[in-house]
Amino acid sequence: MRILVIHGPNLNLLGERQPDVYGKHKLADINRLLRADASREGVTLRIVQSNHEGDIVDFIGKAKKAAQAIVINPAAYTHTSVAIRDAIEACGVPAVEVHLSNIYAREKFRHTSLIAPVCRGQVSGFGVMSYSLGLQAAIAIANERKKQRAGSRKSSR
Ligand code: DQA
Repeated sequence: MRILVIHGPNLNLLGERQPDVYGKHKLADINRLLRADASREGVTLRIVQSNHEGDIVDFIGKAKKAAQAIVINPAAYTHTSVAIRDAIEACGVPAVEVHLSNIYAREKFRHTSLIAPVCRGQVSGFGVMSYSLGLQAAIAIANERKKQRAGSRKSSR
């Protein structure tokens, strides 16, 4: 099973960027933790980060053939990007939205996610643990889908 993890803009600055809000972990620390979680579950991860909306749209588009689930922290694009929302909807791969901070406990403009309605769910406010929980959910969803697909193949034989 392959899962795509997407980190959005400015998450490359984790560790030095507002540590009081986002914690002291660097992006490399989060990725190490996710890879350890994934290898325990026998899952292959592809992890990408971009500060550019179009790159993120392209990553999602390619996931259609390459991944069974997506874990995405769209960062600031959460609140603005119709393009990322449409890409998730179009690719049909189940996605889980994650945030380090609790976006609902922050400025009003962060309370709206354009992405959440096209995701299977959202994890917000648990720091690095948001990613672990998001990955866990993504693996469970991908496994469930795999079973359903195997079941429908059998019944059509
Ligand atoms: C974030 C929350 C967003 O509002 C913000 O723009 C980010 C990070 C989070 O992980 O808490 O860049 O997605």
